[in-house]
Formats: sequence, structure tokens, C-alpha cells
Amino acid sequence: MPHTQAQLDSVPVPVRAGERVVARSGSAEILLVAGESSEGERNLAEQVARRAMRDTPFHAPAYTVADPGDSRVFIVREAGAAVGLAVLRLRPRWAWWSWDDWDEERRPATGVAPLTSWTVETIWTHPSCQSRGLARKLVEVASTEVGQPVTSFGWRHPFTPSGEAFVRQLCPEGFWVPD
Ligand SMILES: CC(C)(COP(=O)(O)OP(=O)(O)OC[C@H]1O[C@@H](n2cnc3c(N)ncnc32)[C@H](O)[C@@H]1OP(=O)(O)O)[C@@H](O)C(=O)NCCC(=O)NCCS
Repeated sequence: MPHTQAQLDSVPVPVRAGERVVARSGSAEILLVAGESSEGERNLAEQVARRAMRDTPFHAPAYTVADPGDSRVFIVREAGAAVGLAVLRLRPRWAWWSWDDWDEERRPATGVAPLTSWTVETIWTHPSCQSRGLARKLVEVASTEVGQPVTSFGWRHPFTPSGEAFVRQLCPEGFWVPD
């Protein structure tokens, strides 16, 4: 059923001149906002990050206009509103946490050579749009855009139960821990 932006409790995303639509999935479009984007687009990205934050354990938005220019913000627009978000940033990764170690409550394995890697700072889809493959699509599009395989991304935690289930599905062996 079509939804309105008010019903969604989400952020309106009007079509803007110069916006970068990097992928489409059914009725959804994925927009990329990066350092070179206009201030209006970066403001919009912050608003979406603030909305997404409310459904995560984090107390600060994953993106603000003041962020350094290497952030990549992917926004899913559907029916004129933001229904998904992925924020990636380049960060040093310092450890590999296998799901076996995670499940046994062991610390991650450290000692990896310091390596800068794209890290998923946050991944979110609106509650009304979950389980449709949108988050998976977001991460796959991000992987293509930054040129790094999903299984080698870093993932910021703590995870919510849905976030952990999602990362387990995409990275079945384990995940890289950012600094
Ligand atoms: C985690 C989240 C982004 C997943 O979004 P989504 O669009 O529903 O995910 P997808 O439909 O692309 O699911 C991809 C796979 O992840 C797994 N998955 C996603 N959500 C899951 C859940 N709640 N429980 C179990 N598995 C889940 C499934 O295996 C799914 O694969 P399948 O559809 O082939 O079974 C979404 O639930 C969310 O926004 N949660 C609140 C915010 C949050 O916790 N973000 C992470 C911060 S740590």
C-alpha cells in the first residue's frame, strides 16, 4: 500500500538538481551524498542520520555536515521519503572477530597489520520497509561504489539484534572491528 511521509515518520527527500542516484531497486532509488555534495544534500544526510539514530543503540548521528569529506552516505528514497541509510567511513581496522569467538564471548583476534578500510558506521531501514532486501542492496551498492568487498568491510558495534543478524548473513565468517 502506498505510504505517506507523515505515516512513515521519516525525512522528506525531494528531487534535487545535481543529486547522484547510484542505483534503483523496484520503486526505491539509492542516492549518494559525499564530501563534494552540496550543503543542502549534506544537511539532508544529517537529518536522515538523526532519524535512523533513534532506531539504533548510538547516541550521536552517524553523519553530520561537519564530518570529514571521506564519508559516503547512501540514502534510500521511496515515495519521496528516506526509508534507508548506510554511512561508510574510512577507518583503521584493528581486529577480526570470528562469530565462533563472538558466540563464545572471546575477545577478537588482534595483531592484524593496521589497514585502512571502509567501515559501516550505520545501516538502517525504516521499520515499515524491512525484510525487503533494502539493507542488503544498500551494502552491495556501497561495496561497488567504494570498490571493496562487503566481507572486508569494518562494522561499528554494538549491534542491535537485527543488526547482528544482518551482519552474520552478509559476513558469515566474522567481521572486522574498526579502531
Ligand atoms: C538491520 C536492518 C538494517 C536490516 O534491514 P533490512 O532491510 O530488513 O534487511 P534485508 O531485508 O536486506 O535483510 C538481509 C538479510 O539480513 C538478515 N536479517 C535482516 N534483519 C533481520 C532480523 N531482524 N532478524 C533476522 N535476520 C535478519 C536476513 O537474513 C536477511 O536475509 P534474507 O532476507 O535473505 O533472509 C534493519 O533491521 C534495521 O534498520 N534495524 C534497526 C537499526 C539497526 O539496528 N541498525 C544496525 C545498527 S547495529
